[in-house]
Amino acid sequence: MPGIRGPSNYSQEPTRHPSLIINAKEPFNAEPPRWALISSYVTPVAMFYKRNHGPIPIVEDIESYYIDIGGLMGSSRKLYMRDVRSLPKYNVTATLQCAGNRRTSMSKVRTVKGVGWDVSALGNAVWGGAKLADVLELVGVPKFTSVTHSGGKHVEFVSIDQCKEENGGPYKASIPLSQATNPEADVLLAYEMNGEPLNRDHGYPLRTIVPGVIGARSVKWLDSISIIAESSQGFFMAKDYKMFPPSVNWDNINWDSRRPQMDFPVQCAICSLEDVNAITPGKVKVCGYAVSGGGRGIERVDISIDCGKTWFEASRYQKPGISYVADDISSDKWAWVLFESIVDVPTSVEIVAKAVDIAGNVQPESVQTIWNLRGILNTSWHRVQVRVGHSKM
Ligand code: MTE
Repeated sequence: MPGIRGPSNYSQEPTRHPSLIINAKEPFNAEPPRWALISSYVTPVAMFYKRNHGPIPIVEDIESYYIDIGGLMGSSRKLYMRDVRSLPKYNVTATLQCAGNRRTSMSKVRTVKGVGWDVSALGNAVWGGAKLADVLELVGVPKFTSVTHSGGKHVEFVSIDQCKEENGGPYKASIPLSQATNPEADVLLAYEMNGEPLNRDHGYPLRTIVPGVIGARSVKWLDSISIIAESSQGFFMAKDYKMFPPSVNWDNINWDSRRPQMDFPVQCAICSLEDVNAITPGKVKVCGYAVSGGGRGIERVDISIDCGKTWFEASRYQKPGISYVADDISSDKWAWVLFESIVDVPTSVEIVAKAVDIAGNVQPESVQTIWNLRGILNTSWHRVQVRVGHSKM
């Protein structure tokens, strides 16, 4: 592909922030420490989790870089960066969350397959770019189309990176055409993150951002876009990122029996405390994030210091000093909310947090009931242990 290439080895990886916790080196997978997530509403690029399945692509000549758009839409077309930039630019604040967030704690119940993650495989950024609905209209697919004349129902994004799971082929994912052509779904072809051009780790020069949906569908380093009849048959759609019941194991799995996961469920985690903390008796700050998929706002975050027997509500905010209202027009509907509570801890306890979204969806109590062999979507109540002693950690 002109202007960009996907290397076959890791000799030209970008440099990364030394505070990131590395979960896998090659491909590079890393998350920030918990405290970094609650330091700001918008996550700095350097502290944003990085989730890769191959070496990071290299742009050699941005002027000659283009993506091909074609498939079941009558014609095909090359789209250069100048074409994407000529469309209206939107800034969408959206939380990107990996489906594997909190996998490590699910694997403690029973072994799961996949890179281990603590609670920080997510981040909140301001993504700048063109709406996919405008891009598709530019190439002849009208807004609010769910099926094209040639039978196209899905939009497939194909990258340039070389992934082991695809036998050296590129990362691919798709979303329904109805979502892609709906301007209110805010799906972007993004070229900026937090007001700066995307960096290499996050998809430079162009990536998809699909708000409210697991991060796996937000394809980085775009090479082509294709209108297709069925959802993408790429590995990461057909044989990964599907939610199975606890009864399914590697001997009886039938990948075709489940749909690819799209929206993520309601989630929250405490980030001001580690799994186990030693403190002196007194007031403890309980802060963290809460987020739900599909643009559903967070109605409530409940905190308990007696293992869930009694609860009280934490305060929530997106902008400092402005109280958050779940479905208010001024709230960032694709973005997380941060929560805060001060609790009095006289003796050793388990502190628990759970969130409720505007549909009334609530996090499940135990991880056992949602265990699945790929360890995705661990949204169980988040628990931390606080041991009262004489010194603060
Ligand atoms: N796109 C490409 N081309 N290659 C990848 O490995 N990983 C996906 C998605 N897009 C991936 C990709 C997954 S699983 C996630 S969670 C997000 O990118 C992570 O995006 P980030 O690294 O910018 O945080």
